[in-house]
Amino acid sequence: MAILFSAPQAEFAIIREAWMEQVGKIGEKGVFVGGPEVAEFEKAFAAYSGTEYAVGVGNGTDALFLALKALGIGPGDEVITAANTFIATVNAIYNTGATPVLADCGPDYVLDLEGVQALVTPRTKAVIPVHLYGLMADMPALTAWAAERGIAVVEDSAQAAGAGLNGKPAGSYGVMGCFSFYPDKNLGALGDGGAVVTSSPELAEKLRKLRNHGGEVRYSHEFPAYNSRLDPIQACALKLKLPHMEEWSGRRRQVAEWYDRHLAGIDAVKRPVLALDGSHAYHLYVIRVDREAREPLKKHLQKKGILTAIHYPEPVHLTPAYAHLGRPGQFPVAEQYAGEILSLPMHIAMTEAMVAQIAGEIGKFFE
Ligand SMILES: Cc1ncc(COP(=O)(O)O)c(C=O)c1O
Repeated sequence: MAILFSAPQAEFAIIREAWMEQVGKIGEKGVFVGGPEVAEFEKAFAAYSGTEYAVGVGNGTDALFLALKALGIGPGDEVITAANTFIATVNAIYNTGATPVLADCGPDYVLDLEGVQALVTPRTKAVIPVHLYGLMADMPALTAWAAERGIAVVEDSAQAAGAGLNGKPAGSYGVMGCFSFYPDKNLGALGDGGAVVTSSPELAEKLRKLRNHGGEVRYSHEFPAYNSRLDPIQACALKLKLPHMEEWSGRRRQVAEWYDRHLAGIDAVKRPVLALDGSHAYHLYVIRVDREAREPLKKHLQKKGILTAIHYPEPVHLTPAYAHLGRPGQFPVAEQYAGEILSLPMHIAMTEAMVAQIAGEIGKFFE
């Protein structure tokens, strides 16, 4: 039987009945934008994230963009982020008019603090650490360093719902944390969705206005702004999933443990680095193999019905969109890893037998 790469349908099956009932009520009321469902989810998600406020927005890219706008970031400013992130992080910076400045990643795939330090100029206004694959960057060190320099830290927590470091959830270290609820994320909606979390009442208020044409009340427009709102149908799904997150995150960690165990004897496979305190959210389980072996291995697994993916095939500066942000060879770790990484199936419906089958096929490939 085929092994899916991700399985949002398994999560949907769990909330289906309750969600359909709630959507029915929304339909009867006829309030399809705003409404109490969004505010209820925001309250629950802020608590989950260890922050005072959550502001629901249209998607994770907008969460990042609006967070930067809330800080007043724009033309003439620089924002540092990782060269090996999903393009959305850089699109969000670019679309404010600020200049994205890329830094290489460390061996654990997350932003390397020393690399960031070397890039600071008087124009640096913010750093966006990306908790890639669900592993948090070294936030205590980064936030302490940034605070001394008046640089804002905005967390790209799109892949890190369920992650924490030293007991503090992803999104609660920075001045704001930005989440994506894209359906296959650890906390996924049934379509697009996103949120910014913060403990600053001023930033929360600014965000609520930025997402809604510059005002919290209809037809009040205090400044030019945007339309990017989380809708109540998505908010219901997210609120129903939230109580499952502890169990689902535990399952992902269990799947990762099975992978670690079953892949341990295969020398050609480099397994992911463990979290500093064991709290990796394992949005993705990413291995590395020799550059020449990656595509043949991917094809071999596909032939056996095992679906894999690559996150991401090119670092940002090697895409046509952002070639001006770096030259080939400038970010050696990100460039090397882009050729070697392979994301294995990871979702809440996986069993140890599936992991053993995948590891068995990888072992056979390298025999
Ligand atoms: C690291 C990262 N940042 C930002 C985003 C953007 O989120 P969205 O797709 O909801 O706009 C994603 C998700 O796709 C992501 O993985």
